[in-house]
Amino acid sequence: MQARWLALPLGIAVLAAAAARADEQAIPGVTDAVQARTDYQLKCQGCHRPDGSGDNHSNPPMRGVVAQFLTVPGGREFIGRVPGVATVNLPDDRLANLVNWTIARFDAAHVPQGFRPYTAEEIGRLRKNPLRLERAAMRAQLVAGFAKTPSD
Ligand code: HEC
Repeated sequence: MQARWLALPLGIAVLAAAAARADEQAIPGVTDAVQARTDYQLKCQGCHRPDGSGDNHSNPPMRGVVAQFLTVPGGREFIGRVPGVATVNLPDDRLANLVNWTIARFDAAHVPQGFRPYTAEEIGRLRKNPLRLERAAMRAQLVAGFAKTPSD
């Protein structure tokens, strides 16, 4: 008897999970959102935090910020060359999947129109040339080019 009453909430939970998954699977350039989420948890969130909020000193927030790099010249390349991305021990295709997921997950609102998702080939090319000490100045220069919001 009880099994019947359990079946409905269970069915709803399964459907909700499938819907959430379908939603994430629809992100351009993300071939496997479940994999991306796991990779983020294992390789990125120690610094950037689970919700992408980072901290206010050593690790920058990605939430509400990261896609703005795509709006300034050189920002697209910067994302593929920061050490956290370029040197992670993941193959190029999984890293492209993860970077595209990260952008959509934490800053969908700033993704520019006509954004072409990173491909494994592009990520492979960019990561061969990781940024070193010059990255802080480069980052500051890119951030200075972000469009100002009315509240700034
Ligand atoms: C050891 C800490 C650390 C880890 C791990 C790390 N990052 Fe970062 N990340 C940083 C720091 C610090 C910066 C700022 C640039 C710099 O100095 O490298 C950054 C910059 C970035 C940027 C450029 C945007 C910006 O605000 O500068 C992206 C995108 C990014 N990280 C994604 C990732 C992803 C994806 C992973 C996991 C594969 C990851 N990071 C792992 C610390 C980390």
